[in-house]
Amino acid sequence: MPEPLSRRDFSRRATLAGLGVGIGHVTADDVLPAIDQVGRLAAAEFPGQREGVYLNHAASSPLPHRTSEALRAHLADRERLFHLYQTGTQDYSIPKLQAKVARLFNVPAELIGFVPSTTEAMAGALNGIDWKPGDNVVVPANEFPGVLYPCLHLERRGVTVKQVPVEQHADLDRVLAAVDGRTRAVALSWVHWLTGHRLDIARLGAECRKRGVLSIVDAIQGVGGVPIDVAAAQVDLFVAGSYKWLMGIPGTAAIYTSPQLLAGIVPDRAGHAGMKTSVYDAPRIEWQPGASRFHVGGPINAALIALEHSVDLLTEVGVPRIASHVAGLLDGLASKAEKAGLRLNTDLSPAHRSTFVNVTTGDAARDDRVVKALVAQRIIVGRRGPGIRVAPHLHNSAGDIDRLLEGVRAQT
Ligand SMILES: Cc1ncc(COP(=O)(O)O)c(C=O)c1O
Repeated sequence: MPEPLSRRDFSRRATLAGLGVGIGHVTADDVLPAIDQVGRLAAAEFPGQREGVYLNHAASSPLPHRTSEALRAHLADRERLFHLYQTGTQDYSIPKLQAKVARLFNVPAELIGFVPSTTEAMAGALNGIDWKPGDNVVVPANEFPGVLYPCLHLERRGVTVKQVPVEQHADLDRVLAAVDGRTRAVALSWVHWLTGHRLDIARLGAECRKRGVLSIVDAIQGVGGVPIDVAAAQVDLFVAGSYKWLMGIPGTAAIYTSPQLLAGIVPDRAGHAGMKTSVYDAPRIEWQPGASRFHVGGPINAALIALEHSVDLLTEVGVPRIASHVAGLLDGLASKAEKAGLRLNTDLSPAHRSTFVNVTTGDAARDDRVVKALVAQRIIVGRRGPGIRVAPHLHNSAGDIDRLLEGVRAQT
């Protein structure tokens, strides 16, 4: 579980995490007691984590206890159904969750909606643009397939897909330099899935807004671990699936849609859930005013219930505090990596760090072996791209990182 930090360490970590904590603003005295509280909350919410070391949040999250309890209660109600009809709550109340996610993103609640997955949101936004032959979309060449394929699928409509070459990590200068007079959208990930490399989406948003280009951002690898003010970032679509850093289950992704996006695109699919009209009204296409227009059919109740309870936990702990805690863990890993025979594939500078890193033993076959051996010891990391992805969250401790490094040392 997280250990309390010294004042000096706290300030250093907070600064690294981009939190701007310092004299005259928030002081360590304000925050240190709260960090102890994180340890207690983490112990209560992740009792199962004592059985091993889970460091794979970039793949999927173990559920907080409160979330699995809520899901069990939901399933018990579904087993009977009488109760749900008596209370009239057989459908999940979306406005409550919209408000909670809106607080997390710092945007108005009506601009939040829920779709089945991150990739569906990316595809839906890109398909909804009124493309003319010769228009283009700009996308880094090393993007996650869930970003790249929806772009490539536009080629059948005469759209040019400008894939921006990438050396080690995508470079926002190069991405923006590829934008021209026919660009309608830039699509990319806030945090890269293989390395944890984070791009400055506030700059992306501002530059795209100036040029009248939509910025379409897959944020699944950041939200819940890295603080964000989406309104200030000025991006047009910001989407995060619930089962990684948001600690929910697969089945839903939270979307933010900017007023510009809502004004500029038409949803590619119409269904009963995206309309202002009820199912009893005479049918006519009249979209919901906000992001809910992207709802098509009935809500995936279980996924929304899980998301709500996990968002409550993240809000109680505070994403800035989570970022600061994880920054400490990753710094610890970075400082001991060499001794364990590991090298970092991730840029940990404040401008680009997120909440995970990719490390390697320098040999792909050895990385494979190390990951298998670690998993056999219940130390869960992922073998991805150039190495081994290590992705801790609020329940992890410095002891977990030490156990990981011992496990690696035994194989190198
Ligand atoms: C960057 C990125 N986008 C999208 C996804 C998949 O999200 P979803 O299953 O919600 O479409 C992943 C999963 O690994 C990812 O890393």
